[in-house]
Amino acid sequence: MRILVVGSGGREHALCWAIAASPLCDKLYCAPGNAGIAAEAECVPIGVDDVTTLVAFARSKRIEFVVVGPEAPLVAGLVDQLEAAGIKTFGPSKQAAMLEGSKGFTKDFCTRHDIPTAAYGRFRDVAAARSFIYARSAPIVVKADGLTAGKGVTVAQSVDEALAAVDEAMVGGRFGAAGAEVVIEEFLEGEEASFHALVDGAHAVPLAAAQDHKRVGDGDTGPNTGGMGTYSPAPIVTPAMAETIMARIIRPTVAGMAADGKPFKGVLFAGLMIGRDGPKLIEFNVRFGDPECQVLIPRLMSDLLPGLIAARDGQLKNFALRWRDDAAICVVMAAQGYPGAHKRATVIRGLERAAKVPGVYVFHAGTAHMDDQIVASGGRVLGVTATGPTLADARDHAYQAVDSIDWPDGFCRRDIGWRALTPGAATGSA
Ligand code: AMP
Ligand code: GLY
Repeated sequence: MRILVVGSGGREHALCWAIAASPLCDKLYCAPGNAGIAAEAECVPIGVDDVTTLVAFARSKRIEFVVVGPEAPLVAGLVDQLEAAGIKTFGPSKQAAMLEGSKGFTKDFCTRHDIPTAAYGRFRDVAAARSFIYARSAPIVVKADGLTAGKGVTVAQSVDEALAAVDEAMVGGRFGAAGAEVVIEEFLEGEEASFHALVDGAHAVPLAAAQDHKRVGDGDTGPNTGGMGTYSPAPIVTPAMAETIMARIIRPTVAGMAADGKPFKGVLFAGLMIGRDGPKLIEFNVRFGDPECQVLIPRLMSDLLPGLIAARDGQLKNFALRWRDDAAICVVMAAQGYPGAHKRATVIRGLERAAKVPGVYVFHAGTAHMDDQIVASGGRVLGVTATGPTLADARDHAYQAVDSIDWPDGFCRRDIGWRALTPGAATGSA
C-alpha cells in the first residue's frame, strides 16, 4: 500500500516507524514530517491544516491509506474531505471529532449516556460563569471549550484564580473563538491515566494503558505542558480496571456516538482520573496521545497497520492485538524555557550514540536538518524511548541515552515514571 501520515511530532515519528516496518507498506509519505521521520518516510512540505493541498497530494500520489496524527485537522474535517475524494483514512469524521473539539459537547454527551465525569456547567455568559464559581468555590477547574493545544485548562486553587481564568478566556479572548464558551467543572481527586482504544464505529479494541507527566518540572511541579514523558504499562490500570473503563466509558461512548448518528472511527483516547469511586473521564482526545503513542507502539507486538485499516473498514469485531510484556518509558527533551519562550535552531549532537543504547528509540518531535546538522525546531524536541523487562530497566536505558545526547539548550525531567517506580506511590498493583 501507498500510505500518507499527516503530522510532524513524536507521535507521528512513532506511527511512521511502525507503519514503515509493516509488510503491507510499499511507500510511506509524511506531511510535513521532521528530521527523524525522514529516516522512515518521504517528507513532503504540506502543513497539517492545508486540507486542499493534502487531498490533492494524496490523489496525485495515488495514496491508498492516510493516517491523521493531530487533532486540529481532524476537527477541521480532513477525514471527511479525503474520504469524499475516495481515499481511505484512519481517524474520526469532523462530527465525531467533536469529542475533542468541544468540551461542552462531550460533557453533555456524557450526561446523556451516563458516562462518569466531573459535575459541570457550560457558559457563554461571563456573569453566569462568575456566579457559578462563587456558588461552587475552589478548587475548581475552568476550561476553554475548543482546541487550545493543551493550554485552555486552569485547575484553580482559589476563587480568584478561577475568575481570572474566565476573564482571560471570555473577556481577554486569549483563545479566540475556542474560549468564547467555557466549561467549569468539579475538581477530581485521584491518579490520572491515559487509556486508548481503536474504534471502528461500533466496536472497540483496548490498547495498553499509559501514564503521562503533564507538568514541566520534577515532582510534577510547574506549568502544564503537552507532556514531558510517559510510561506503559500504568500500574493503576489493572486488568479489572481496564475492563471497568471499557464498560463504563469506552463502550458507552462508541454506542452513544453511533446512536447519535456520529459513529466514531479512529483512536479514542480517554484522559481519566481514577479515584475512590472508580474511573472518571477528564477529557476525550480523538487521536493518539503524544507522548503516549511513543510508549504504546514499541510495546505492540502485532503489526499496527492492519489494526488501523480494520478500524477504518469497520472490521474490529474479532480483532485482537498482542503486546510485549516489556515496559516502555519515554523521556521528552524540550528546549530550555518550554512551555514558555525558547530558542530555536540550536544544534543537537550525539543522536547516533543515544540510539545505540539497548532497547532505545529516539523519536523526533521537533527537529529539522540544517547544514548537515540536526537542530531543534519546536518546544518538545525529542522523545527518548526505551523498553526493558521492567520499568526500572527501561528508565535506566532511557536516561543513559538522554545523557549521551549533547544538546546544551535542551532539558528533560529526571523523574519520569516515579509514581510507578516509588514503592507506595502508586495506588494500583502491577
Ligand atoms: P486536559 O487538557 O483536559 O487534559 O487537562 C489538563 C490537566 O488538567 C489534566 O491532565 C488534569 O491534570 C487537570 N484536570 C483537568 N480537569 C480536571 C478536573 N476536573 N479535576 C482535576 N484535574 C483536572
Ligand atoms: N499527552 C496528552 C495528549 O496527547 O493530549
